[in-house]
Amino acid sequence: MLKPNGNYRNLKESYLFFGISQKVAAYRAEHPEKPLYRLGIGDVSLPLCRAAIQALHSAADDQAKEETFHGYTPECGIPEFRAAVAGYYSRRGVHPDPEEIFVSSGASDELGDILDLFDAGSPALITQPAYPAYVDASVMAGRKTFFLNAGPENDFLPLPGDDTAADLIYLCSPNNPTGAVYSREQLQSWVGYANRHGAVILFDAAYEAFIEGDLPHSIFEIPGAETCAIEICSLSKTAGFTGTRLGYTVIPKALERDGMNLNAMWVRNRTTKTNGISYLLQKAGIAVFSDEGLEQIQENIRIYKQNAQVLMDALDQTGIRYWGGKNAPYIWMACPNGMKSWDFFDLLLNEIQVIGTPGEGFGACGEGYFRLSSFGKPEETKTAAERIRKLLEETK
Ligand code: MLT
Repeated sequence: MLKPNGNYRNLKESYLFFGISQKVAAYRAEHPEKPLYRLGIGDVSLPLCRAAIQALHSAADDQAKEETFHGYTPECGIPEFRAAVAGYYSRRGVHPDPEEIFVSSGASDELGDILDLFDAGSPALITQPAYPAYVDASVMAGRKTFFLNAGPENDFLPLPGDDTAADLIYLCSPNNPTGAVYSREQLQSWVGYANRHGAVILFDAAYEAFIEGDLPHSIFEIPGAETCAIEICSLSKTAGFTGTRLGYTVIPKALERDGMNLNAMWVRNRTTKTNGISYLLQKAGIAVFSDEGLEQIQENIRIYKQNAQVLMDALDQTGIRYWGGKNAPYIWMACPNGMKSWDFFDLLLNEIQVIGTPGEGFGACGEGYFRLSSFGKPEETKTAAERIRKLLEETK
């Protein structure tokens, strides 16, 4: 008899954001008259930039005429898209070969798919609190998973120690959920560790566009990363593509393990498992990475950053401790009075109709913390911030 993948027995009953949406739907059914303020899942609320919209329209027109119609696109990406992403990197002094860039349908899909490159017996190290898809994808693949805890004692930026053991290392900077960003020196110590131990870093750079100041946007800004790292990024947060779906992955040609070349392996994987990504979406991506597009996407990022400021100002008035918000669209706050994170979630939902994300959903060491997203609409964020401020004052 066929046996299903028993690793699914080791997963939590439901995925974090799916579980929250079910709780919210139940509340909504009971209280249809109450408006909800959504600061939970990091889903954008502002439309795509003009350059992307024009490119989508014009690509749709291309598909209407025989002379400009496109069938399958190349599995690893349209050359123009790969070159546009390479051009984006070169603005920071990183010069990938376009053949080191692979198109994807977004970072969350890719973070699971990329595990195909690694033996299931190679354990993964995940800094925690962590984006839950890392953990769940590893559990589904039957991979042993270890955690390295982040907390106020290490500014939520844990570093490898002598006793650290890992083959596959997940790093996310700016971090989801804490908003913490690794410095060059800190990333250098991870790169040094990975090269010394033959490990590979999976670097999630999905929030790089929110960085201010001289902090690394890419692991490839760190010398030596080309022999130990894969970077996964998406246009979801950079350009509001959460519902449009487009991303990219950088696998250096110099990355080899056990005599096997990971770039060549990913070409083999993509050419087998995909038929490319939509021509329309890649055209929109090319437009995002044009000078005009890059300027336009800053308009939304600025608004999300103002939202973060509004939330931080409200928390400042209450004296509650929080992290993030400056270089990331997430604010990671301590729950008041030592409250558990799911209890705080229920309190916010029931009392002030604000939806956030309980820290415990990002792993055990997230207990006692709570994440607020700055991706909401500005007016709703203002109202939510004021409601949170008042509630925190009342519970003092
Ligand atoms: C989040 O809220 O953590 C993100 O929106 C999840 C994602 O990007 O898939």
